[in-house]
Amino acid sequence: MKDEYRLRLDKIEAALRLALPENPSPAWLGAVFGQHELPPGMVHGLVQPGLDLISRGGKRWRPLLMSLVCEALGGGDAALPLTPLVELSHNASLIHDDIEDHSLERRGSPAVHLLYGAGMAINGGSFLYFAGLACIEAWTAPVELQQRVYSSWGAYMRRLHLGQALDITWHREGSGVKLPGRGDYALMCRLKTGSLAALAAVLGVLAAPGALSLDRPLGDAAEKLGLGFQILDDVKNLSTGNPGKKRGDDIVEGKRSLPLLIYLGERGGSRPLVERCFAAARREGIAAPEVEELIAAMTDSGAVEEARLQGLLLVGEAREAMTAALDLVPAAGSAVEARRLLAALPDLISGGS
Ligand code: IPE
Ligand code: IPE
Ligand code: MG
Ligand code: MG
Repeated sequence: MKDEYRLRLDKIEAALRLALPENPSPAWLGAVFGQHELPPGMVHGLVQPGLDLISRGGKRWRPLLMSLVCEALGGGDAALPLTPLVELSHNASLIHDDIEDHSLERRGSPAVHLLYGAGMAINGGSFLYFAGLACIEAWTAPVELQQRVYSSWGAYMRRLHLGQALDITWHREGSGVKLPGRGDYALMCRLKTGSLAALAAVLGVLAAPGALSLDRPLGDAAEKLGLGFQILDDVKNLSTGNPGKKRGDDIVEGKRSLPLLIYLGERGGSRPLVERCFAAARREGIAAPEVEELIAAMTDSGAVEEARLQGLLLVGEAREAMTAALDLVPAAGSAVEARRLLAALPDLISGGS
């Protein structure tokens, strides 16, 4: 991430360390477990899977989006204490996602379940969701606002899990299931990836003073950003590869991503070839030559490039929608700088600039 975001990213890291400390303090134990003292080392197994994944880094664009929205509306750092709600939830979803997708790597190291076992990974991932919630009670805001934060989090988490369920139904667990249409795919991405982005924007609005009516337009714009980001993430999987993950692992997973839908639906792609390559990739894993064979067929047909352009278009539209919504409110002081950084964020995180 560019240097101009550094100060804000450092604050986000500090908020994450407070929410999930390596050495739990009595105050943290009390806030999280309702018990200020527990035998030494007792919580290690529970927190270690999450700590491990978080310490590997990540772009942290969701809490950055939240903080910048708040700052852009004149709220300064007021949203920062809500960082765990978006970033711990994101990391929780990644731990579960890698189990669901049979993924081998995350952020350049073995997927969490491969290091700690599926049981500890599922439990530690779930714990991250609940640990994030503790920040709401600690947040110094009127109780009605705390309640709105809590219900927004719940609503978007339910949407995220609906999106994941659709994705899983369509990928390797669901061979033989009818291919989704492009609209179904977009809705699934809005749900699974757009939800956390929208939550981030909405929390930024809730933490800022006096612009509550912007929750809808900014939430919708962020959801669109999540959709575009997900499409571009799927495209990278089949082209440059995603940093810290294996190129082509979406084929092993059997993911029905946009390039595949365009290839089969609009570019005359061969269904038997897709079935044969998916089956070989599933049987033999990432080393199967059919992974590259299918990538080449989709690339040569122009489907990967068309999906990339579609992703870039959506990210651009999301940026414009975000800027238009913010323009409804005058900006002064640090809000001006925050708006500039916010406008540059979509291209930065999706590799569009
Ligand atoms: C990964 O998200 C999951 C998707 C929605 C594609 P990111 O690419 O934001 O993951 P990190 O946090 O930077 O590792
Ligand atoms: C990302 O899922 C969405 C969530 C984790 C909620 P993907 O399965 O598409 O993301 P990657 O490719 O594993 O990062
Ligand atoms: Mg995945
Ligand atoms: Mg997935």
